[in-house]
Amino acid sequence: MRLILVGPPGAGKGTQAVQLAKHFGIPHISTGDIFRSNLKAETELGKLAKSFMDKGELVPDSVTNEMVRDRFKQADVKKGFLLDGFPRNIAQADELSRILQEVNLNLDAVLELQIADAEIVRRLSGRRTCKECGAIFHQEFEPSKQKDVCDKCGGSLYQREDDKESVIIHRLAIYAQQTKPIIDYYRTKGVLKQMSAVGTVSQISADAISLLSK
Ligand code: AP5
Ligand code: MG
Ligand code: ZN
Repeated sequence: MRLILVGPPGAGKGTQAVQLAKHFGIPHISTGDIFRSNLKAETELGKLAKSFMDKGELVPDSVTNEMVRDRFKQADVKKGFLLDGFPRNIAQADELSRILQEVNLNLDAVLELQIADAEIVRRLSGRRTCKECGAIFHQEFEPSKQKDVCDKCGGSLYQREDDKESVIIHRLAIYAQQTKPIIDYYRTKGVLKQMSAVGTVSQISADAISLLSK
């Protein structure tokens, strides 16, 4: 399975990506996660990305595209892949087409997760993320067993800098302006599949797997 997950911030891309990557046995490639692990390791890339991420802006295409191009040099993408958070504008989508052409792979599907803005704000303002492994929780909807402790690795949970309400609103605007156009782009290519991202995590995974298996 060669798949892109697209949807607004808080739609549940990261949450579903973990389930789908496990089901299909493919690597989960999240540009946001790669930036956050660089941030944690205090690399130059991490410092540069942080200045954009904290404001809810996109990291420049030149940086992001190179990072993805590098990731596609690893052999594991031959068995398939799940892209989460990339591409995020038409220029990145064009670049991805070139990268895939170079490594002789094509896309099976682009799955759009659809959700209303009000629900997004509820999801993001309660999100807690593991500092160590990146696992995703929600204070109310997907709580960890022990408050602020990761169920998977015991790491501590934190609130992402970009999950403040003012930044969430800006990320939604950026999504509408820059990312939404890629939905038509992939519809034209005949690979677009759309579904609701409202429901329980396991119900949404089951719906996604059945839609992708058609
Ligand atoms: P990124 O990390 O990709 O953030 P995003 O796209 O804004 O998406 P999120 O991670 O916020 O949401 P999600 O859809 O993954 O939802 P989640 O599963 O966590 O990007 C961050 C930043 O990095 C960007 O702003 C940009 O600066 C930079 N960046 C990244 N990629 C880039 C690119 N290609 N180009 C340029 N810049 C780039 O779920 C959200 C919450 O809801 C969680 O708490 C979860 O527990 C809960 N939840 C999930 N599913 C359900 C459910 N069914 N019911 C109830 N709660 C649920
Ligand atoms: Mg995410
Ligand atoms: Zn963890």
